Amino acid sequence: MKKFTIAAVSLFSLLCLSMSFAQTDERQPLLSVKDIMNGLIVPTTTIIWGAYQLETDAQWQEVRNAALSVIAAGNLLQFGGAGEGEVVAAAEEDWKTYNQQMIEAARLVIVAADNKDEEILSAVGNDALYPPCESCHQQYQKR
Ligand code: HEC
Repeated sequence: MKKFTIAAVSLFSLLCLSMSFAQTDERQPLLSVKDIMNGLIVPTTTIIWGAYQLETDAQWQEVRNAALSVIAAGNLLQFGGAGEGEVVAAAEEDWKTYNQQMIEAARLVIVAADNKDEEILSAVGNDALYPPCESCHQQYQKR
């Protein structure tokens, strides 16, 4: 009986321990929004907006990969960033809306790349991908 109690207690403390590990290990932003912008968004959107007279499959693949990275960045931005107040900002409806618009635009870039359609790619880049950058910055970028 006593042995059982000890086993139960140690199992319990083990569970608590792993729970506290799980808590410190919980998803939390590792990058600031600024880092996400400069490290992920800028280089990838530069590829997308700079795409012109693409010829090879590899070039289209590069555009497609860039769009995937924009989606990944958008995925990070859903949780905000490591900077002060960035998790709170990311919980706001407007932030979610602009971020979602950017993600949707990146999905359209993938469709354009899959169809190797430069006209659509250019239209998506200007009319869908760019506006959410502007809207979000107007509201959330501190000057
Ligand atoms: C959901 C909101 C949001 C979206 C969408 C967004 N940004 Fe940002 N961006 C921010 C915020 C907030 C900052 C300010 C970060 C800071 O200064 O700490 C920023 C800053 C920047 C900066 C300046 C970085 C610096 O070093 O000061 C660039 C460049 C940038 N964004 C590019 C883009 C581009 C290009 C897009 C669209 C493809 C985009 N962003 C979409 C929120 C967003």
